[in-house]
Amino acid sequence: MNLEEINHNELPQHIAIIMDGNGRWAQKQGKIRVRGHEAGAKAVRKTVEAVAKLGIKHLTLYAFSTENWSRPKTEISTLMLLLVRSLRNELERMTTNNIKLSAIGSLGKLPNNVQKELQEVIIKTQGNSGMHLTLALSYGAREEIEQAVKQISLKVKNNIIPVESIDETIINEHLYTQNLPDVDLLIRTSGEVRISNFLLWQIAYAELYFTDELWPEFDEQSLQRAILSYQKRERRFGKTSEQLN
Ligand code: FPP
Repeated sequence: MNLEEINHNELPQHIAIIMDGNGRWAQKQGKIRVRGHEAGAKAVRKTVEAVAKLGIKHLTLYAFSTENWSRPKTEISTLMLLLVRSLRNELERMTTNNIKLSAIGSLGKLPNNVQKELQEVIIKTQGNSGMHLTLALSYGAREEIEQAVKQISLKVKNNIIPVESIDETIINEHLYTQNLPDVDLLIRTSGEVRISNFLLWQIAYAELYFTDELWPEFDEQSLQRAILSYQKRERRFGKTSEQLN
């Protein structure tokens, strides 16, 4: 399989990835979990580059969920350290590759140094017009929907908008992902076949792709396989095949 097989006119516009299996990868190698996350960070870099190379506009990565806060404290601090280190190391590369970074989630719950580093990279890359990379950090889709409902309710209560105006557009505008298009392709690694509270609203019509590969094993070829699978599917959005043809 090579890049030539991919139809460059039918690429997904937005890919989202649940990066799973760092711990199992480490265990398989007889290493401690931290090594799995380090290898996972390398897979992030390779994937970002591969997605950018294809000219795909949006990539959203599930890097830390609201549920991940219940992991052992030492593992959380390692993940935060890796994040800070990656942000620091990747800024230059993001700038060269014209990549814009954003983050979604309860960012205020992140340690101060992570928030600071994140803000710095977001600000420094916000003018970049190439690929838009979004990191979901301390993210949970139900929490995202909950805060959207609260914001909208307040606007109704304060007579800023009438209740009748609430529609999909208004809801979209109050989600963390307000500036992003819907997800076209959702990938999850490590053989788990579930969504785990990731972008529940935004994946309404996404094609789902599950692979047994563990996240540190995911590479350019894996990405190509996922895209080829996506391109073989017929996205009907509720219509019949005949209507589409
Ligand atoms: C899942 O593996 C992965 C995570 C909880 C975090 C993802 C983090 C990274 C890929 C590293 C750094 C991220 C960036 C953006 C630089 P797991 O620990 O749940 O694996 P397991 O299910 O096999 O235990």
